[in-house]
This record gives sequence, C-alpha cells and structure tokens, in this order.
Amino acid sequence: MKQSHLRKPTAKALAGSGKPHIFICCLLLLTCSFSFGVESDISCLKSIKASLEDPSGYLSLSWDFSNTTEGFICKFLGIECWHPNENKVLNIKLSDLGLKGQFPRGLSNCSSLTGLDLSGNKLSGPLPEDIGRILAFITTLDLSSNSFSGKIPPSLSNCTYLNVLKLENNEFSGEIPQQLAQLKRLKTFSVANNRLSGPVPNFDGSVSFGPESYAGNSGLCGGPLKPCQ
Ligand SMILES: *[C@@H]1O[C@H](CO)[C@@H](O)[C@H](O)[C@H]1NC(C)=O
Ligand SMILES: *[C@@H]1O[C@H](CO)[C@@H](O)[C@H](O)[C@H]1NC(C)=O
Ligand SMILES: *[C@@H]1O[C@H](CO)[C@@H](O)[C@H](O)[C@H]1NC(C)=O
Repeated sequence: MKQSHLRKPTAKALAGSGKPHIFICCLLLLTCSFSFGVESDISCLKSIKASLEDPSGYLSLSWDFSNTTEGFICKFLGIECWHPNENKVLNIKLSDLGLKGQFPRGLSNCSSLTGLDLSGNKLSGPLPEDIGRILAFITTLDLSSNSFSGKIPPSLSNCTYLNVLKLENNEFSGEIPQQLAQLKRLKTFSVANNRLSGPVPNFDGSVSFGPESYAGNSGLCGGPLKPCQ
C-alpha cells in the first residue's frame, strides 16, 4: 500500500517533463546495450576456457574471472581489446600453448572479434559447419599446425573480411570449397600439408596463390598445379 502511494507522484513528475524522460530512456538503452556487449565477451572467454584442455595451465593461471574491474579480460594472456578499459575483444592469440580439444563454439559470443590465432596447438575434430556465422567479422584466421580434420567448411566464404586464412599442417580432407574464391580480400592463403584432393578454388583476377599454398596434398589439381583430368 505504502509503495503504490509513493509511486504515483514520481510517475506524474516524469510524465510532466517530456525531455528528461526521453533522455533517461536513451541513457538506459545505451547502458543496456553496452553492458550486454561486455557480458557476452566475458561469457565468450569463459566458454573458451571451459571447452579447451590446458595441460600446461596457461589459461587457468592467467584467465581469472574473479576480478571484474572494467577491462579486466584485456589483461588476459593472448587477449587484445578494442580499448584497454572496455571488455570488448579485438584479437585472440593463443598459439603454441599445447591446448587440446575442439574448435570452441563459444567464440560466437566474441561478437567484435577480428583476429583468431590458435596455431601450433593440439586441437582436433572438425570445424563447425557454421564457422562463417561464428566468426562473421574475422580478418585473420590462423588454425595452422593442429590436428583439425574433416572438410573445410564452405561457410568460410561468408567471412568476407578475411585477409589471412592459414589452415596448413592439419588433417583436412575432401575438396577445398570452390566458394573460397569469393573471398576478394584474401592476401595470404595456405592449405599445405593436409589430405585434400580435387580442383583448387578458381581465384581469378586480383588474387592468385602459388603452388606452395597447396603443397603436401596428394590429390589437388588445377590452378598453379597440374591440370585436373
Ligand atoms: C582488480 O584489477 C584491478 C586492475 O587490474 C586492480 O587494480 C585491482 O587491485 C584488482 N582487485 C583485486 C581485488 O584483485
Ligand atoms: C553466449 O552467451 C550467452 C549468455 O551471455 C549464453 O547463454 C550462450 O549459451 C552463449 N553462446 C555460446 C555459443 O556459448
Ligand atoms: C552464407 O550466409 C548465408 C546467410 O546466413 C547463408 O544462407 C549461406 O548458406 C551461407 N553460405 C555458405 C556457403 O554457407
């Protein structure tokens, strides 16, 4: 009873002054969307830590989620943020740490991620088919020197900002998706030393890659390699 009695004048006061009301709404909206972005990047890193085996303890030592000062994740090993005081992840660089497990799906919650380097670990299993949605804004993807297997997902062709795609020294098999030729910004590309076969993508015009990009696969043909039968 007392509470409802108190609320009425407050509501009236707010309704009476239109502009401050709108201003407060905008502030609330901004605050909400801001803290949502931050929350999701924190949950992204929590999920990566939970999904990877870390026998040498690099992540368990450095990735401490107990101190939630703004920007705390920006001091984690391998994490670069857009701004040092804002929990918004720009790049993740976790190469040569002996990490095991599968490609971390939780990366989809790092929604502003532009660079991912997981090279030189012991990661295995297939890449998610929807990796193009998980890493929508990625410009550099280095998954080289792991034990990833299965097909190279065609959805990578939806990562239209990709400049660097390094998939060499894994166990990928099957054909290279022809759709990768749609990646017009690609400057560095390697699938060397896998188990790939069939025709290489028909990169035409502005980009072309030499035989070294394809070396060490028994069954590839076309492009800079021998013509396909
Ligand atoms: C939390 O982190 C901030 C910034 O790194 C540091 O200044 C502060 O002392 C830390 N607080 C605790 C309780 O560890
Ligand atoms: C993304 O984060 C939300 C909570 O912020 C969580 O419910 C969801 O499971 C996460 N997605 C993945 C793929 O981890
Ligand atoms: C690219 O994304 C669109 C829209 O999400 C989807 O319909 C399409 O299947 C994707 N392409 C590939 C090759 O996965």
